[in-house]
Amino acid sequence: MTPIDFNERAKSWDANPAHAARNQAVVAALRQRLGLDGTQTALELGCGTGELALALAPFLGSILGTDASPGMVEQFAAKLAEKPTAKLRVVCLDLLGDHGLSETFDLAYSAMMLHHVADVPGLLVRVAERLRPGGRMALVDLVTEDGSFHGEMVVPHNGFSEKEVADWGAAAGLRLLSLGDHSHRREERSSLSGFPGHSGGLTAR
Ligand SMILES: C[S@@+](CC[C@H](N)C(=O)[O-])C[C@H]1O[C@@H](n2cnc3c(N)ncnc32)[C@H](O)[C@@H]1O
Repeated sequence: MTPIDFNERAKSWDANPAHAARNQAVVAALRQRLGLDGTQTALELGCGTGELALALAPFLGSILGTDASPGMVEQFAAKLAEKPTAKLRVVCLDLLGDHGLSETFDLAYSAMMLHHVADVPGLLVRVAERLRPGGRMALVDLVTEDGSFHGEMVVPHNGFSEKEVADWGAAAGLRLLSLGDHSHRREERSSLSGFPGHSGGLTAR
């Protein structure tokens, strides 16, 4: 059993076509569910190499990408250095630590980050503090599975049930607006290039 080294994986992250396919599906789902109009300010949790933020940027006012892995942030920062845009920023921080964020956002979202966090209820409380009144949170992640998604790699959670997402959201003062449609379920894995499923929770303060 091996823990995931995101610094090492950052170097080849974008070469995996499954990641690009997943990002496309996430952009479509967030646009459809959140009614993005190009003005909302967003906080991305666990932004990785920034591909999702880059794809979402045309539909949002601004995005602050955050990630605890310096290797991931380095990849994203290199893209921004090559093609600067006032809409996108990235910072290396642990959202569960003393992250020092003080601004508030219309939207906080994550894709495939939550199952890498042991203390998800704690994370939701910390992130909810960064939402403006009426702000929303969108969580895209694995539906509870048998662990085969990560194979020999160790992760804190083998996905989540809808009840967990709803209960943890409620404990963070978030009201559940809608759950994901599970349109990318495990049985459709092959046609979606390895994207096994998501449990989306859209919540508002
Ligand atoms: C599976 S990757 C997903 C990256 C990206 N969202 C994507 O879909 O390509 C999970 C990311 O979450 C980040 N992460 C995990 N725990 C974190 C924390 N406590 N604070 C900030 N980032 C974290 C990892 O460093 C990693 O880059």
